[in-house]
Amino acid sequence: METIIAYNRVAKEVIHSLEKDYHVHYFENGETIDQPLFLDALTEAVGIIGLEFSGQKNALTHAPHLKAIANVSVGYDNLDIAELTKRGIIATNTPDTLTETTADAIFGLMLATARRIPELHNYVMAGKWDNYLKHDQFGVDLHGKTIGIIGMGNIGQALAKRCALGFDMNVIYYNRSRKPHVEEMYAARFTAFDDLLKMSDFVCLTLPATPETKHIISKREFNLMKNSAIYINGSRGINNDEEALFDALNKKAILAAGIDVYQTEPINSDNPLLTLPNIVTLPHIGPATIENELKMSKRAEQNLRDSLNHLKPRDILNPEVMS
Ligand code: GLV
Repeated sequence: METIIAYNRVAKEVIHSLEKDYHVHYFENGETIDQPLFLDALTEAVGIIGLEFSGQKNALTHAPHLKAIANVSVGYDNLDIAELTKRGIIATNTPDTLTETTADAIFGLMLATARRIPELHNYVMAGKWDNYLKHDQFGVDLHGKTIGIIGMGNIGQALAKRCALGFDMNVIYYNRSRKPHVEEMYAARFTAFDDLLKMSDFVCLTLPATPETKHIISKREFNLMKNSAIYINGSRGINNDEEALFDALNKKAILAAGIDVYQTEPINSDNPLLTLPNIVTLPHIGPATIENELKMSKRAEQNLRDSLNHLKPRDILNPEVMS
């Protein structure tokens, strides 16, 4: 049987299914080629399925039989697609499957940040609730406010739906192209980038990470936001400049931030952002639910099986490899 590496996060059910046809080596902890067992498996592997497999160039030189990498994620900034294409290795991702789950998480982060839910949870748990809540512990409303969504792809649209239809929010958005159906369904207005920053009560990033989006939110952009703005990043950490985010929160140039993603993940425990009172943070939970893990893993399994069986996988990122 041929060898497959399952990497970081793959549903058990899918591992068992793959084990019927392949030797599956499961590495759950971000192993690298410095680890002999991982290196051995890589030397044999025809396929990799999982989350955030990286270490690209170096790893690939140790993978002479590799034919496909099936990401269990929509984002594929962990992969050097040009390099994979050069080597004839198929790359796939799992779009669509995680849209609603990730929009739930981002919306949850908005609510948690605006209503200061983690902070007040800790207050009650610590036995400090001994009198009426004080004005300076109050949060702010979401309903009726303006949300500026940067990146109106699938996740941006699912977020717009929640905000417009569920919470009576005004939706404005910035995207490479206009989305007439979103404008019609959610009364969303397309705005210039800077106008969105100036007008929004919530600024929310739902963009992939590309060289063009690196630090798209930095000092200048935080300065354009309202002092009462809440900034939410559920996309990729590299899309905002973390130093500028720290300064904006520290100086109260914005009210608060809800952050699910960081430039370095897992986050370094000495990251200064973790010292701030006006941030609500999560360990990249966007797509991470029990139901969705299975959906994404199954989709990635199908992509991997198709790639290895010379069928064009549904979510191929480098179709040139097959032509
Ligand atoms: C999650 O962040 C993903 O890219 O799937």
